Amino acid sequence: MNYSIPKGTFDLLPQQDKEENQWKEIHRWNYLRAQIFELAHNYGFEEIVTPIFEATELFTRSIGDSSDIVSKEMYTFLDKGERSMTLRPEGTAPAMRAFIESQMHQGSYCHKLCYTGPMFRYERQQAGRYRQFYQFGAEIIGLPSAQLDVELIDFLYALFQRLGLQNLTIHINSIGNKECRQNHRNALIDYLKPHFNSLSLESQKRFETNPLRILDSKNLEDQKIVIGAPSILDYLEEESKEHFEEVKKWLRLLNIPFVINDKLVRGLDYYNRTVFEVVSGDLGAQNTIAAGGRYDYLIKDLGGPELPAVGFAIGIERVLQTMIAQSCSFPSRPVPLVLLIPLGEPSLQVCFQLLKQLRNHNIPAEMDYSFKKLKNILKYADKKNIPYVTILGEDELKNETVILKHMITSQEEPVKLDQFILTLKNKLSHGQPN
Ligand code: HAM
Repeated sequence: MNYSIPKGTFDLLPQQDKEENQWKEIHRWNYLRAQIFELAHNYGFEEIVTPIFEATELFTRSIGDSSDIVSKEMYTFLDKGERSMTLRPEGTAPAMRAFIESQMHQGSYCHKLCYTGPMFRYERQQAGRYRQFYQFGAEIIGLPSAQLDVELIDFLYALFQRLGLQNLTIHINSIGNKECRQNHRNALIDYLKPHFNSLSLESQKRFETNPLRILDSKNLEDQKIVIGAPSILDYLEEESKEHFEEVKKWLRLLNIPFVINDKLVRGLDYYNRTVFEVVSGDLGAQNTIAAGGRYDYLIKDLGGPELPAVGFAIGIERVLQTMIAQSCSFPSRPVPLVLLIPLGEPSLQVCFQLLKQLRNHNIPAEMDYSFKKLKNILKYADKKNIPYVTILGEDELKNETVILKHMITSQEEPVKLDQFILTLKNKLSHGQPN
């Protein structure tokens, strides 16, 4: 029996041969993760970790029954105690569950939480869309201030600048409160009714369940129809209107470029007021690399205190894919700095002790146990980009020396065993042979 990876998932490996797979190299993930967390720390976020499965009800309640996620994409199962559980399709609801359950609100009036990890959605497989994918999410809980919406958008802007990403557009919109959405929904239904037969099948279904989602349909015919649709921005009540004006004002203050996209509605039900997405010009149909918005009623809906909140999540795969497409720089893959090569059994013991010493001194080191021809071992070291090799044969053993060879210059020299660590450290700190 041959086993293969489940559809819509991927392996992260130390190295990938094809360029189109390089986003699945683990050192690139680690680099992105480190960059994100460094910035998160600067912006005052603290990390939380929640389980990858939760009670199904948490997601149906928060994301909404009519959403694509709840209606067709959840990995739901009964556990052995007959409880319905779901692999988390997103991180906001679990973060709020943890927030409420730990009574975090009692400690302070504003909380900045962040998380990363795998999310699960049973989606149709296509480039940039996976069934297990990874998000970094950030949530600010406690205050309704428009400046916090802007802090989050600024975080994304700063992150993408730091990574060297270009050709990105920040879309913002306001979807107001429940009442203005209802008024807009009625107007939208009236507008769409005469076009019903020309809508895509998907949108015809949404006409009944969630007509707002027709606005962000990817179908070209649908897009032509919705051009003239009533704009949610014309239905905002005074406070939402003011909030949106503030968001725009503070974004301008920080010189953050944005476009107003009144067709941006988001696929999860918990949002109100500000919603935003960052779209990459270098990906295919699945081009949103980060998205979020305000959700002032979710915590209360989940049984917690009445506290406003705002947040976003970044799609890690899509960010890395955009970085590769734009040839952004990454640190190189970490390699051992030295390979010890014992020539024959008698040198093995000394090399093994040297290996331990190197590691004790925090010098990443490897040993070759193959006893292959030296030429072949050097070829292997070269292929792995290991900068130094240390050769220990019978003569060296007698003289208590090793041969230290720099792989790029091929320069080699004998070094006394008791001077070895110091000599190597010296060379490594100079970055080249001296
Ligand atoms: P979302 O728009 O569902 O929002 O997902 C956020 C991001 O996750 C997307 O923009 C995309 O980059 C990535 N993503 C979503 N689904 C997939 C997939 N199947 N494959 C690859 N990447 C994907 C949320 O999840 C909200 N919880 C965001 C949020 C946080 N709102 C407030 N706080």
